[in-house]
Amino acid sequence: MPGDTTWYEARTQQLASYLIDASVLDPADRDSRIWLDALREVPRHLFIPPRAWAEPQDDRPSQLIDRGADPDAWWDAVYSNCAIITQRGDGGADVADRRAHLTSSNSSPHVVMEFLRLLELDSHQRVLEVGTGTGWTAAMLAWRLGDDQVATIEVDEAVAAVAAENLKAAGMAPATLVGGGELGVPERAPFDRVHVTCGVRHVPYEWVEQTRPGGSIVMPYMLPHGQWGEQLRLDVLDDGTAVGSFHGGCGFMMLRSQRRDSWPPYSEDGVEGTTRVDPRAAWAALNQGFGLNLAAAAPHIAISTAGWEQQDDDWTWVMRLRDLRGDGWAIATFRPGEETHVVQSGDRQLWTALEAAFMEWLRAGRPGRGEYRMIVTPGGQDVWLP
Ligand SMILES: C[S@@+](CC[C@H](N)C(=O)[O-])C[C@H]1O[C@@H](n2cnc3c(N)ncnc32)[C@H](O)[C@@H]1O
Repeated sequence: MPGDTTWYEARTQQLASYLIDASVLDPADRDSRIWLDALREVPRHLFIPPRAWAEPQDDRPSQLIDRGADPDAWWDAVYSNCAIITQRGDGGADVADRRAHLTSSNSSPHVVMEFLRLLELDSHQRVLEVGTGTGWTAAMLAWRLGDDQVATIEVDEAVAAVAAENLKAAGMAPATLVGGGELGVPERAPFDRVHVTCGVRHVPYEWVEQTRPGGSIVMPYMLPHGQWGEQLRLDVLDDGTAVGSFHGGCGFMMLRSQRRDSWPPYSEDGVEGTTRVDPRAAWAALNQGFGLNLAAAAPHIAISTAGWEQQDDDWTWVMRLRDLRGDGWAIATFRPGEETHVVQSGDRQLWTALEAAFMEWLRAGRPGRGEYRMIVTPGGQDVWLP
């Protein structure tokens, strides 16, 4: 019966098997074994509301899950690799309203465990989580380290209140705070780890200041081009800087203060040209390391759309670029059998810069994400290929 202890234990076992088969957790490794225990001891279903929106990370369709109406679908979603969306439109839209932005969730178990592994926790460490969401991650951290060692901060008051109830129901009591996590929690610093569970474009220096030298900060780093994120671990040094490495792709909802505003209208001064480069090749390489090369070479470039579109009865593949530091833009249009048509506006010639970064990446032998580094200083951040 749903709700019965053995019911969810069997399901937890299925989820554990999935994470082992997917090589996220390895039973031969001590840290993995602790997280496997956490999965059992901190049941995910205690952190999922009766009505939510399931986003499976495989071929299954997204759907509304309602424990009252269809308990099997609810339990299936909760104990499989689904992100469970718990809020849209900052609470101003129904959770089933597909037109509204996703603004809070219980992230998929796959990515939650990848990030927990990246933390490389040890006993007695103090952790700050930014983005409490449903409280599940905070609960697993508190289960592992002890309530006193963990603080979690959430910007949305209503989300934070539900998380506090969830944590109580699960028997966990980390410090729960409401506010903008980009400032950190200075009164509780220093931390050994800062664990950020929302997307970040610009790393707030406060996190570096509040982390002990030798400690680390993990986060979904959302690349400037805007289409994808990277799992970033920053190691904090004793000279006030932090050096980062990249550990896999990920998609996440953004830190509220770093969401992107809408783009300015297109100006009418575009200059036309052509290129022999197929923009789809650059697009396909973004998640293979090229995205980081673009972040290093041209961090002002955002890709606002890319994909097939019907234009004048023809299917064309279109990539639109925007300048994050001005109102420049570029549009590259690929039609099978023709040279790519490019229109660019603004001083920075966005397509030309993207193409140069792509050629540079190919010339370097397609370096993968693991070869790039980031540095964070009081003056800002930079990505580079050592
Ligand atoms: C993907 S959810 C976090 C999932 C969560 N860790 C869990 O275990 O369920 C991201 C959360 O970050 C929160 N958030 C966004 N911007 C924030 C900010 N500046 N400070 C704190 N939390 C923020 C969102 O409201 C949302 O609840």
